[in-house]
Amino acid sequence: MSKRTCLAIVLAAGEGTRMRSARPKVLHAVAGRSLLAHVLHAVRGAGMSACAVVVGPDGESVAAEARAVVPRAETFVQRERRGTAHAVLAARAAIEKGADDIVVIFGDTPLITPDTLKRLRGAIDHHASVAVLGFRAANPTGYGRLITNGHRLVAIREEKEASDIERRIDFCNGGLMALRGECALDILDRIDDVNAKREFYLTDAVTIADGMALEAVALETSEDEVLGINTRAQLAEAEAVMQQRLCAAAMDAGVTMVAPETVFLSADTRLGRDVTIEPHVVFGPGVVVEDDAVIHAFSHLEGAHVGKGASVGPYARLRPGAKLGAKSRIGNFVEVKAAEIGEGAKANHLAYLGDGTVGAGANIGAGTIFCNYDGKNKHRTEVGKGAFIGSNSALVAPVKIGENAYVGSGSVITDDVPKGALAIGRGRQVVKADWAPGAKKTGTNKPAEKNPGAKRPAAKKKAATKAKPKTAASRKSKTNR
Ligand code: UD1
Ligand code: CA
Repeated sequence: MSKRTCLAIVLAAGEGTRMRSARPKVLHAVAGRSLLAHVLHAVRGAGMSACAVVVGPDGESVAAEARAVVPRAETFVQRERRGTAHAVLAARAAIEKGADDIVVIFGDTPLITPDTLKRLRGAIDHHASVAVLGFRAANPTGYGRLITNGHRLVAIREEKEASDIERRIDFCNGGLMALRGECALDILDRIDDVNAKREFYLTDAVTIADGMALEAVALETSEDEVLGINTRAQLAEAEAVMQQRLCAAAMDAGVTMVAPETVFLSADTRLGRDVTIEPHVVFGPGVVVEDDAVIHAFSHLEGAHVGKGASVGPYARLRPGAKLGAKSRIGNFVEVKAAEIGEGAKANHLAYLGDGTVGAGANIGAGTIFCNYDGKNKHRTEVGKGAFIGSNSALVAPVKIGENAYVGSGSVITDDVPKGALAIGRGRQVVKADWAPGAKKTGTNKPAEKNPGAKRPAAKKKAATKAKPKTAASRKSKTNR
C-alpha cells in the first residue's frame, strides 16, 4: 500500500433544488444512511488520511453529519455557489497542509466504492498529475464529455460548451478527480469563470494541466457507481442498486434469501451465517442478526439484536432496543420495543412487549400487552424465567411477574406476582339460564362449564359461581377484582 498521504475533499454545498425538499440533498438516505455518509464511508474505506467537507451557507446540519461519520473531518463553508472548482478552493486551508494526493468527490454520489477511490488515487501515484473517473453513459446529456488523445485526457467539455461532434462522445465525467498535491493549488488558482454558466469549473483543471505539460488521464468505471442524485427518482434508482449490492454481499457471506429483490437492508445491517430472510422483510438501521436465526416474511426490524437461532415473524415488528435471546420465538403481529427477551422465550400472536424483560423460557400468550405508558412516563415490566402469561393479559407497569408464576388469561395485572404463584385478575363469568326471549326453560342456572365432561368439584352453590379456586394465589386474586 502507498505511504503517500491523501486529502479527500467532499463537495456538499449544492442546493439540491430538484429534490424539492426542506432537507439538504446530501442528507437524504439510501439504505438507511445519508448520501454524505455513504461517500464518507467509502473515503474511510479507501484509507484516506484527511477529509475536508465543503458545505453551503446553511450547512450546519450537513457539517454535523460529516463529523458524526468522520469525527476528524474538517468542514468549510462555500458562501456563494460559484462552481465546483470554487467549492474545492473553499477548502484551501486543508490543501495548503500539503497532502501528497488530493481526491475530490461529490457528496451526492453515494454508490462510489473504496476500491474505485483507491484506483483513482493510484493513477496519481504512477505517472499523471490529474486523474478523472469516467464512465460510458447510456444517455450522455448533461454530463461533461471526456476528450482523449490515446491514453491521455486532453479536456473535459461541459455540455453547454460542447460542439455537436463532442456531444456525440459517450465517455463522460463521473465528477471525481484526483490531483497531485504539490501542483493542485497551482492548477486550481488558474481556473476562471469564462464560460456559459459563469462558474469556476473543476473540469478545467484538465486543460490547464495540459498547458503546464502535466499529464491527465481518465479511468473508467461503471455508470451506476458515479450515479449522482439530483431528483427523487434518482434517489430511488440509487436505492435499487444499493439493495442489490447489499443482498448480494449478504448471500455471499452465507445468508439465505428466498426473494432478495423484495428485501430491504440497511447499509449497516449485520447478518450471521445461515440466517434465513424470507420475502418482504425490511431492515432499518442498527440491526444485528446472529447465526441460524430466521426472519419470516413481512417483518420490520430496526435497532434490534436477534440472537442465535431465534425466529421472528411473520409480520413481526422489532423496534429499537429489542434484544432477543438465542432460540427465542417472536410470533406474528408481535411488537417488541426496548425489551430483552430471554433464551428460548416465546411471544405469541398480537403481543406488545414494550420496556422490560422476559426471562428465559417464559411464554407470553397471544394478545398480551405490556402497558408501559401511563400518559406521562414509561415503566418497565419484568417477567421472570419460565413464567406463563395467559392470553389477552394486560401487565400494567411497573410490575414484576416472578419466576415460573402463572397469569390467567384475560387478567389485568397491577400488582407484582410472586415466584410460582397463580394470578387471576378478571371478572367472573356469569351464566343466566333461559335468559333470551322465548328460550326454552331448562330449569336451572348453571355455572360456566369450561371443560365439558371434566370432573368438577361438587357444584352445590348458587348460580353464577365457578369451580372452586384451587390455589392460594387465585383465592387472593378475588380481592383484586
Ligand atoms: C459536474 C461536472 C460534469 C460531470 C457531472 C457528473 C463540473 C463543472 N462538471 O456537473 O463534468 O459530468 O458533474 O455528475 O464539475 N457543488 C458545490 N458548490 C458549487 C457547485 C457544485 O459544492 O458551487 C457541488 C454540488 O453539491 C455537487 C457537485 O459539486 O455535489 C457537482 O455539482 P453540479 O452542479 O451537480 O455539477 P454538474 O453540472 O452535474
Ligand atoms: Ca450533478
